[in-house]
Amino acid sequence: MTEEERIFTGGVAVITGAGAGIGMGLARRCGQIGMTVIVTDIDKARADAVAADIVAAGGKAEAIQVDVAKPEALDALALDIFDRHGAVRLLVNNAGIETVGYSWEIPIDRWERTLNVNIHGVVHGVRSFVPHMLRVGKEAWIANLASIGSFGIMPTQAAYIMSKHAVQSFSECLYLEMQVAGAPINVCSIIPGMLKTSIFDAEAGNGEPEGAAAHRAAMAQMMASYGMDLDEGCRHFVEGLAARKFWISSQPDMTDRALAERVGFFQKQAPPTLNEQTRALLGA
Ligand SMILES: NC(=O)c1ccc[n+]([C@@H]2O[C@H](COP(=O)([O-])OP(=O)(O)OC[C@H]3O[C@@H](n4cnc5c(N)ncnc54)[C@H](O)[C@@H]3O)[C@@H](O)[C@H]2O)c1
Repeated sequence: MTEEERIFTGGVAVITGAGAGIGMGLARRCGQIGMTVIVTDIDKARADAVAADIVAAGGKAEAIQVDVAKPEALDALALDIFDRHGAVRLLVNNAGIETVGYSWEIPIDRWERTLNVNIHGVVHGVRSFVPHMLRVGKEAWIANLASIGSFGIMPTQAAYIMSKHAVQSFSECLYLEMQVAGAPINVCSIIPGMLKTSIFDAEAGNGEPEGAAAHRAAMAQMMASYGMDLDEGCRHFVEGLAARKFWISSQPDMTDRALAERVGFFQKQAPPTLNEQTRALLGA
């Protein structure tokens, strides 16, 4: 029996945005190691397909439609899952969207949606699930999806980048809050470098300014060429969760480089500069 199985088999995993990409990869992995997987997504058809795949492979899963930007939807989800399953061993606040374009050109709806999904979606997951986890009193895990972008800066992705800086700092505060409260909840920051997912697909960019399409296509191309295999990345993530790590990177070298650059930037306190790679990507 692996360490992941020893810790997670027989438990319930609730994953947001699990109808595609990393959420889907994590759902599959949790299914493989014998968890009951609650596959939630704003897109019910996607969630149904992922749950059906897990069940077809011999696992346990159910699909539920949840928009993480709606606090009441997460409250209802938590009530329902604790009522029917008694406990949740793993909550993954994964749902997130990219938004591309100059900050002054992104329409207000897209700005608000990005911050609501990426920041408040994570906060709502915590707010809705932690009181039940505390009441049940068993050891549990909460994993929030940060990003390599949590430690860097990218012009024309300001909404996304600032949201990921926020998620990382939220997870750090939450980790310490669990210590202060003496709560048996492991808080983990999952840091994908680049995994092959649909986050830069053209249809995911509805509502972005016109000029965003070319940048989105370039990022999708980069992801297809250099991204890590989704299932491999998600295996690392679940291993890190079982090891009770706070920092869980898919590509630790990328995380180390981003952190070193950021530390250097803070130490110099110089103005932000465009590096060659960013210039080339943005044609600046
Ligand atoms: N792919 C990467 O390399 C990468 C890198 C860094 C961080 N991340 C983070 O990983 C997470 C997942 O990204 P991905 O690449 O798998 O994206 P993806 O676009 O492939 O999948 C995201 C899923 O979330 C769902 N979703 C979108 N809005 C939602 C909402 N309001 N409520 C519920 N579900 C919603 C979508 O329907 C989709 O199924 C995000 O938080 C993202 O920021 C990904």
